[in-house]
Formats: sequence, structure tokens, C-alpha cells
Amino acid sequence: MPKSRILVIDDEAAIRESLRMTLEYEGYECLLAATGQEGLTLAERETPDLVLLDVKMPGMDGLEVLERLRAMNETLPVVVVSGHGTISTAVEATKKGAFDFIEKPFASDRVLVSLRNALDQRQLRDENRTLKRAVEVRHQMIGDSGALRQVMAAVGRAAPTNATVLIQGESGVGKELVARTIHRNSLRSRERFVEVNCAAIPEELIESELFGHEKGSFTGATEKQTGKFEQADRGTIFLDEVGDMSAKTQAKVLRVLQEGEVERLGSARTIKVDVRVIAATNKNLEEEIEKGSFREDLYFRLAVIPIHVPPLRERTEDIPLLVRHYMEYFSRENNTRPRRITQAALEALQRYRWKGNIRELRNTVERLIIMSPGDTIDLADLPGSIRTPGGSAAPSATARTAGAGEATSAGTLREFKDNAERAFLVAKLRENGWNISKTAEVIDTPRSNLYKKLEQYQISQETDG
Ligand SMILES: Nc1ncnc2c1ncn2[C@@H]1O[C@H](COP(=O)(O)OP(=O)(O)OP(=O)(O)O)[C@@H](O)[C@H]1O
Ligand SMILES: [Mg+2]
Repeated sequence: MPKSRILVIDDEAAIRESLRMTLEYEGYECLLAATGQEGLTLAERETPDLVLLDVKMPGMDGLEVLERLRAMNETLPVVVVSGHGTISTAVEATKKGAFDFIEKPFASDRVLVSLRNALDQRQLRDENRTLKRAVEVRHQMIGDSGALRQVMAAVGRAAPTNATVLIQGESGVGKELVARTIHRNSLRSRERFVEVNCAAIPEELIESELFGHEKGSFTGATEKQTGKFEQADRGTIFLDEVGDMSAKTQAKVLRVLQEGEVERLGSARTIKVDVRVIAATNKNLEEEIEKGSFREDLYFRLAVIPIHVPPLRERTEDIPLLVRHYMEYFSRENNTRPRRITQAALEALQRYRWKGNIRELRNTVERLIIMSPGDTIDLADLPGSIRTPGGSAAPSATARTAGAGEATSAGTLREFKDNAERAFLVAKLRENGWNISKTAEVIDTPRSNLYKKLEQYQISQETDG
């Protein structure tokens, strides 16, 4: 269990100091604030587990601070301490959601008991929430195959630990979903999940992105920047496409994993970070090590718990469940009536090879829901490539842009525009060999916008058959 953090807000230095000594002696971590305003800032930045709050302070008084703390985070327990302990203040503090009310002068035992009660209660509530989430999660990770159950069991074992996890698997199999599930079921679930796509960040920026930089540390560094590792302190960092990191970045990441500290570019100061690392890649890292493009020592650091997410074609039992799940989901999303699907259509979907895995299946079902006119989805509604095995589901972009049928089968202007935009992007990406930076330049849009569109339309090279 990590130390609980207690924030003390009191304008009297002597009281702050004596509380600090008592709390630290008891093994708590202590944060001190002399004014309500300072307390609020600390509460926001440092996510304490509990606040000890004085009522009578110059400036913003304790009751107002209490109100704002509750607005900020209603699960944060606040114990109010006051020397002006009229019954009415106590009643008001309780009404405003204080966990307990202690009168000054107080015995330190009284404070400690109240603290322990509040923290215990909070922990119980958190555990309840974790359990509830675990149930939600099972509903999110659809599938009942032995292969997926193995993945879920590994997730369950990995989640409560601090071990690094390496998730490997083809594109679109659900690696990110697995990473998020681990975080959400971990003791760090209340802290941040910071995602870094190592393949999407240009080589020359990745270090400052990961580790941060001081103002003026290189041309263009006009402002100080905190890195992703620092942002993820006490939480989880997700290094996606970790197989695409340069040798230099790999060396630096290895150092963070070994030392637990980072250095901003242009600064000699090291900063301790407590970060859990989850990495993912669709490359075969063992092969990359053979080729000399991935460090073996880093691989071993990352793969403390390896999780392999198998491709969809190796767990075809999951396909009917996924199809039904996404049919329901997209009918709700698009406000269309619920559809049925025939056994023949389902079997064809099960036979298909799904090179783009679940992402491709999801896109296919979405298109079916939007484009199929009838109440029942049958074989004839499926794209030809799925009806006749061996092909791919996505019709080619040129066929899509040229096809007048496509244009008229889109029901609304929005749908037509989206279809056209998607087809345009796929065509341009192909022209530029799926080089994102180049494509963004050619079509004159910021790279970040292009990434957003790829995500929105679920476009990836693999789904482009
Ligand atoms: N078991 C599952 N049940 C329901 N949806 C899933 C499942 N696995 C993945 N998905 C969905 O499939 C899509 C692709 O998943 P995700 O982004 O996690 O894949 P990925 O392996 O990270 O892909 P890439 O390698 O392309 O980054 C997402 O929309 C995700 O929610
Ligand atoms: Mg991913």
C-alpha cells in the first residue's frame, strides 16, 4: 500500500508543524497549506487522500474551502478542525459534506482515529468501485473463446501489480483495450493513464515528449514542458508502438525503468517518478532483437508480464458475439431500429480472415448498420469480399469515390460527406505509401488532424485491403 497523503490547511504555523510531525510519525505523507487558496491548488495538483481543514482563516474561510473541495472531488474526505467550535459550525460543516468535526485544542489521538476511519471508509468505497468496474470491463471485452479468456486471466493477474507489461499482437486485436483494462483494474486507477504513440511522434521530438524540456533547451523550446513520464507520476504510462523507438530513445527509456527517474532536456536535475509502464507493439520484438533494431535488455525490462493477444481468425468463436455486440452498439449510436442477422451471414463473417482484426470487424458492422436497408442482414448485404472468401472487406477507395451507388446509398448529407472524406484520405494515404507526415503535408492539414481523422474513421493500412 502506498502511503496515504494528508493535506493540512491551517493558517497557524505552529498547528501545521505539530500536525506534520504527528502525521509523518504515523507514516503518512503530509502536505501543508497556509491559506484556503493554497490548499485548493495543492488538492488539485497533488491528489491527497484526505484533507484536514481549519475553519477560521483570513481570506477564504474553511467552510468555503470545504465547498470547493467537494465540488472538485466529492469522494475526497475532509475532516474539519476548528477552535471556534460552536455547534452551528459543526452542523454546517457536516451538511456541506465534512467527514468529521474536531474541536481545537485537540488531542492528536482524536485526530488520528478520525483520519483512520475516513481513510478506511474511502478504501472500502474504492474497492467497491474497482469490483464494479471489473464487471463493466468484462462487458467491454467481448468474447468467450479460450484464447480471450487466457488474455483476460493474464490481465487479472497483471492488474494489481506494478510489473511492466508488454502486449503483443497484430493491428486491431485490442492491445490498447487490454492496456486500459489493466490500468482501470489497478491500484493506480484513480491516477492518470498517459498514452504515447511512439510511432506517431517525429524522432527529434520524442525525447522531449517523453522526458520534457526546460525553456530554451533547444531551438523552438520556447516554453518549459513536462514530459509524459512526469505527467504519469503515480499512474500508468502506455508506450504504444514501442517497437518503433530509435536506439537513442530506447536507451533513455531503459534508464527510466532502471533508475525510476527522468531528466528534462536541458536540465541536470533528476526527477523521481513512480510510473507503471505498459508497452504494446504489433512488431515481433524477438525478431527485431535478432535484427539488432531493438535492445534485448529493454525487452526483458518491458516483458516482465508478456501478454499476447491472438488475432481474430484464431478465435472465431468470438465473432458472433462481437457482431451482435457491435450491431446493438451502432444501432443505438445511429438511432436506427434494431436489426437481425441470418445464420448464413454470420457464418460468412466467421469464415472471413479479418486481417484488420476487431477494428475491421467493427467498421464492417458499422457500415452494415448504416447501409443495409432491410430489417434483416443477410448474405447479400455483406461486401463481396466477405461473401467470397479470400478477399478483404473494405471496398477499394477508388471504387468508393467513383461509385454513384455509394453516394446515393448514404442516407444523409453527413453520411455522404463522411464517406467521401474517408475515401479521399485512404486514396491519399495510399498514394503516399501510408506515410502520415507526407500525406498531411500533401493534403495541407496538420498531422494531428490527420491522426484524429484516422481514428475517427478507423483507417489503418491493415484495414485497407
Ligand atoms: N474483445 C473486444 N471486445 C470488444 N471490442 C474490442 C475488443 N478488442 C478490441 N476491441 C475494439 O477494437 C478496436 C481496436 O482495438 P485496439 O485499438 O485496442 O487495438 P490495437 O491492438 O491497439 O490496434 P493497433 O495495433 O492498430 O493500435 C477498438 O475499437 C476496441 O474497442
Ligand atoms: Mg493500438
